[in-house]
Amino acid sequence: MTQRNYHITTFGCQMNKADSERMAGILEDIGFASVDDPNSADLILYNTCTIRDNAEQKVYSYLGRQAKRKQQDPNLTLIVAGCVAQQEGEALLRRVPELDLVMGPQHANRLGDLLEQVLDGNQVVATEPVHIMEDITKPRRDSKVTAWVNIIYGCNERCSYCVVPGVRGLEQSRTPEAIRAEMEGLGRSGYKEITLLGQNIDAYGRDLPGVTAEGRRKNTLTDLLYFVHDVPGMERLRFATSHPRYFTERLIRACAELPKVCEHFHIPFQSGDNEILKAMKRGYTHQKYRRIIDKVRSYMPDASISADAIVGFPGETEEQFQNTLQLVEDIGFDQLNTAAYSPRPGTEAAVWEKQLSEEVKSDRLQRLNHLVAIKAQERSQRYLGRVETVLVEDRNPKLATQVMGRTDGNRLTFFEGDINELKGQLVKVKITETRAFSLTGESILSRNNDPQKTLV
Ligand code: SAH
Ligand code: SF4
Ligand code: F3S
Repeated sequence: MTQRNYHITTFGCQMNKADSERMAGILEDIGFASVDDPNSADLILYNTCTIRDNAEQKVYSYLGRQAKRKQQDPNLTLIVAGCVAQQEGEALLRRVPELDLVMGPQHANRLGDLLEQVLDGNQVVATEPVHIMEDITKPRRDSKVTAWVNIIYGCNERCSYCVVPGVRGLEQSRTPEAIRAEMEGLGRSGYKEITLLGQNIDAYGRDLPGVTAEGRRKNTLTDLLYFVHDVPGMERLRFATSHPRYFTERLIRACAELPKVCEHFHIPFQSGDNEILKAMKRGYTHQKYRRIIDKVRSYMPDASISADAIVGFPGETEEQFQNTLQLVEDIGFDQLNTAAYSPRPGTEAAVWEKQLSEEVKSDRLQRLNHLVAIKAQERSQRYLGRVETVLVEDRNPKLATQVMGRTDGNRLTFFEGDINELKGQLVKVKITETRAFSLTGESILSRNNDPQKTLV
């Protein structure tokens, strides 16, 4: 039999990236080989995102090209997975009749079964809510150094702008045992850093049974951190995304206490204005958000803080936008993902009357981004002259003599070195140059040439 090739393009967040790695694992298990160029693939899978309209439109333009190719080459298998697949379902088949399979994110682990139905000649839509099965196939991970581990799928929040609960379904936590087993496997395979994933990761365990003798819920994120922090081989542990509503002092204490947990927290605030936060249904005030950050910094003064924010939410006044700028000014984020509000199908805020013009939204976005870069540069400055531990992930794609990796606080860092020697190593690097979102340094190793002493 001739070799069959597959190509996956992934859009969207880390959840999608993690799902793609699992689906790639399934495809390789049944004999497909990976190719970078979609035009030489027999099977193309788009794992899609619909968080904002531009993310969704990008999918259609990619898909259009391959649908044309399929008209010439009927043996090509075309699959749309992920959040656009879930949102559009059958409608996608009407829009792109060349498609073979439309599958929502909850079905990622079932790709093998679904593909069998396709190869039998069916056009398949899999978007019904299901209990997500533990996957027995090994994911094909892109990195050999860092890995993602999903701990909770779905989201039970109802933020008025957001499609995620609609497309990812209700929260489903994996058991601590299944999570630890996956992490131990990663540790044995040489992975040094693991990021635990969930859309609202602090909700972890709400759907699992069990209470402690004091009547406390047993399986919280904090309990999970204590349960997995000593996985052999793993040197660093991260988690994302945190919701301010559930970010407890107990969790903060655990992060300060557990040496492998990195001092970097991604806690989206979305807006610095209480009225807007209320309309977003976020369930906290900007004062509460500030108290959380103060608390984090009281335990870990050097912690990096990143977040997400939306500008131009329906009805947002200039004054309310100023409150977001003020929060960014006051907190000083290490990094902030910003977006102009995009009305999404099936969400509450999309049908509200007071939608702002694209001009107003993009003007606010630019002003916010400008401030974000200034503050990030200020935050970067604190690293100058310091020695940071960098976990080397890859070669600097722009400069072959350099390698790149991340600090504990998640700053991208470049330094001179040989990737073959350093990949997956934790290296002490003295920071010599800072930019808003990255650093340059020199390894202490290359100075005194004593690898034993300086590789930690
Ligand atoms: N679960 C995370 C984030 C999920 S989506 C949380 O609760 O924070 C990632 C980010 O996309 C969000 O934090 C938000 O800033 C942004 N986003 C979500 N819906 C959006 C919309 N309709 N328009 C613009 N940005 C949006
Ligand atoms: Fe969306 Fe809110 Fe859930 Fe985050 S917490 S995924 S913003 S609904
Ligand atoms: Fe996008 Fe789905 Fe993630 S909509 S941001 S890929 S959960």
